[in-house]
Amino acid sequence: MTMTRPELHTSLSPALLHLYDAAQATVVIIDVLRATSTIAAALHNGARYVVPVDSVAKCIELGRQINCVTAGERDGKIAEGLAHGNSPFEYTREFIGGKILVLTTTNGTKLLHMALDKGARDIVTGSFPNLSAVCDFLLSRDHQVILGCAAWKDKVNIEDLMFAGAVIHRVKNHFSINCDSSAVAESIYLEAGKDLYGFLKKQNASHFKRLTGYGLEKDIRYCLTPDIANVLPFYEDGKLIQHDPARK
Ligand code: MLT
Repeated sequence: MTMTRPELHTSLSPALLHLYDAAQATVVIIDVLRATSTIAAALHNGARYVVPVDSVAKCIELGRQINCVTAGERDGKIAEGLAHGNSPFEYTREFIGGKILVLTTTNGTKLLHMALDKGARDIVTGSFPNLSAVCDFLLSRDHQVILGCAAWKDKVNIEDLMFAGAVIHRVKNHFSINCDSSAVAESIYLEAGKDLYGFLKKQNASHFKRLTGYGLEKDIRYCLTPDIANVLPFYEDGKLIQHDPARK
């Protein structure tokens, strides 16, 4: 009996998400610098869950209603009215352990809400710090996949593409991939080689430059380190919770 492999597509920007059938798919939200790296860090360090919200106003409002840490950025800086930003180093075990994090970011949480509006079958978040957890999850199921790059204000970025490529490189035999964006993503990942930081620097990548300008090289290095916070954030009932691998 021939088995049909599920399809995998890569959406290079939120502006292209409408081209894909999210209702049938697991959508992986990718915002390497830094939203999905920070979400992995917070859950890895014992946050109860993360509530991704798409506006600063909602974040502040929720902060009034429940006992939580309100955090977020706009244009890479802590957003006005919020207590914390989007650096993975803010969410140490000592600080975030046992707490709820409510987070809003320029691109990452926005894309997550777009995927929700499109009725995505499942939503998980991915970045280098949880590369293996994402790949293991995708390989454990037979659903279509959309690797959704959060990009920067709809403009394609290299780091999200590079992560999509890293996933594709690991999982491609499990899927049917007829998608030029996926081919480009894998090529970029292979071209980058082992020194992802050096590659972004050489390419003069825009958000790399922006964060470097704020003195956040340490954040960038964390966000490019594979499996340093290897948990799978899985969206359920308005929350990103740590997925239990025993659950399909
Ligand atoms: C975003 O969602 O756009 C980012 O995570 C921005 C950042 O904090 O670097």
